[in-house]
Amino acid sequence: MSTAISPTAYNYKVVRQFAIMTVVWGILGMGLGVFIASQLVWPELNFGLPWTTFGRLRPLHTNLVIFAFGGCALFATSYYVVQRTCQTRLISDSLAAFTFWGWQAVIVGAIVTLPLGYTTTKEYAELEWPLAILLAIVWVTYGLVFFGTIVKRKTKHIYVGNWFYGAFIVVTAMLHIVNHASLPVSFFKSYSAYSGATDAMIQWWYGHNAVGFFLTTGFLGMMYYFVPKQAERPIYSYRLSIVHFWALITLYIWAGPHHLHYTALPDWAQSLGMAMSIILLAPSWGGMINGMMTLSGAWHKLRTDPILRFLVVSLAFYGMSTFEGPMMAIKTVNSLSHYTDWTIGHVHAGALGWVAMISIGAIYHMIPKLFGRAQMHSTGLINAHFWLATIGTVLYIASMWVNGITQGLMWRAINDDGTLTYSFVEALQASHPGFIVRALGGAFFASGMLFMAYNVYRTVRASDPAEAEAAAKIAVVGAH
Ligand code: HEM
Ligand code: HEM
Repeated sequence: MSTAISPTAYNYKVVRQFAIMTVVWGILGMGLGVFIASQLVWPELNFGLPWTTFGRLRPLHTNLVIFAFGGCALFATSYYVVQRTCQTRLISDSLAAFTFWGWQAVIVGAIVTLPLGYTTTKEYAELEWPLAILLAIVWVTYGLVFFGTIVKRKTKHIYVGNWFYGAFIVVTAMLHIVNHASLPVSFFKSYSAYSGATDAMIQWWYGHNAVGFFLTTGFLGMMYYFVPKQAERPIYSYRLSIVHFWALITLYIWAGPHHLHYTALPDWAQSLGMAMSIILLAPSWGGMINGMMTLSGAWHKLRTDPILRFLVVSLAFYGMSTFEGPMMAIKTVNSLSHYTDWTIGHVHAGALGWVAMISIGAIYHMIPKLFGRAQMHSTGLINAHFWLATIGTVLYIASMWVNGITQGLMWRAINDDGTLTYSFVEALQASHPGFIVRALGGAFFASGMLFMAYNVYRTVRASDPAEAEAAAKIAVVGAH
């Protein structure tokens, strides 16, 4: 059989590239997470060097896990899903290749500049203007490839997973471009176009919707394709998925001010953010239930299929973190949780439990298909990975709940004469055991990623390019 790429076959090359880099960046980003978690246990690990301090490595961790690991998973799966559900090849191989190399260049730029201390200081938007511009160009190209492919689709309707991916692409472009408006004063330094409370509002409109659209909506696109596929059942309710889509994107955009409770932001804006966050529980759980119920009649598959387990447990963590978030958005609850490790626990319930687990499940689903194999090299290793990831996540979030509530209560405790009962250092000492458990949980999760790398390597090494190309062609003419 010829290995030449048929013009009718899907472009699996770019999907393969992004899928492999998801694993590579996952290991680096999470490994760095374990390292900074260890710095909080053993401060000597800062090594007394500016480049290796917690303050510089923390944003590198967030950039690597969100944009490098999460981003590559989103590129890989969206390119895979849009081709298969539209029954057509991506509109342009060269533009798709540009998005791959451009995205990797942005990540390498982050790895170089953040430890050197070049930063806008805006959380999740740290990259200085030359990299921010490159990112914007890559993103707009991504939009062209994705929507162009939708336009030339061979199917009549647009599968709901693509709606979620589409909203994620459009809104991320809008957020990034608006929040990054700034005045460069040198090649490595710029100042925000906004000031004071307006700057904070724009930043958390960006920040919260980075959570809502990058870390949620895109991954819901993944959920709507890979859960039914892996369970071999149609989505529970197509109607619910449409309601879910419109409700989610309409509500998310208003919730940003819950990051700015008790600040200089006008009080009405804080209350509006709180109210919208509470309402957000409804579409979030609607989506979670839609995913879970897709397993109706297929629950027994969980006994034998660890990939499905990854996908279903990710939905459980999604449900958990989207219950916790609205609670934390209530001002009185936030007065306890803000600034504490509770927030960090909430973040990782979403990040590890939801974002990472659903990505891992989707990559395990795709790799054999992309490389022309019947299945992954070892199901036992996927199972071991599943348990390491689940136990790691539970250790991480449970320790952070205990730490967060302890810190919140100790900071607000006052004596009869109005003085503080505890000094800050006492609260820090009380947090030390929790930091150790978190580092351990992180090490569990990250070591699972090493199992994944080995399993992927063995599957790829045994791959047959001719079969992979044939599969791409057959998939075009077959059902999606
Ligand atoms: C092995 C896994 C991981 C470990 C050990 C880890 C560890 C950490 C640590 C120690 C921090 C700093 C906490 C602090 O400032 O007190 C942090 C922050 C953060 N991590 Fe992770 N992390 C891991 C995986 C991930 C993943 C997969 C994601 C996203 C997909 C993620 C997203 C974040 C975010 C968004 C923050 C900033 C939170 C905030 O500012 O409130 N992490 N992580
Ligand atoms: C209905 C859904 C959700 C709501 C209403 C919500 C609400 C909140 C609230 C109130 C905070 C604390 C703000 C503060 O005190 O500073 C927060 C922080 C955060 N949440 Fe959520 N959350 C939701 C879902 C999620 C999910 C699914 C993820 C991850 C995938 C996530 C990621 C984060 C991150 C990264 C932060 C930390 C931001 C920072 O300070 O750096 N959230 N969220």
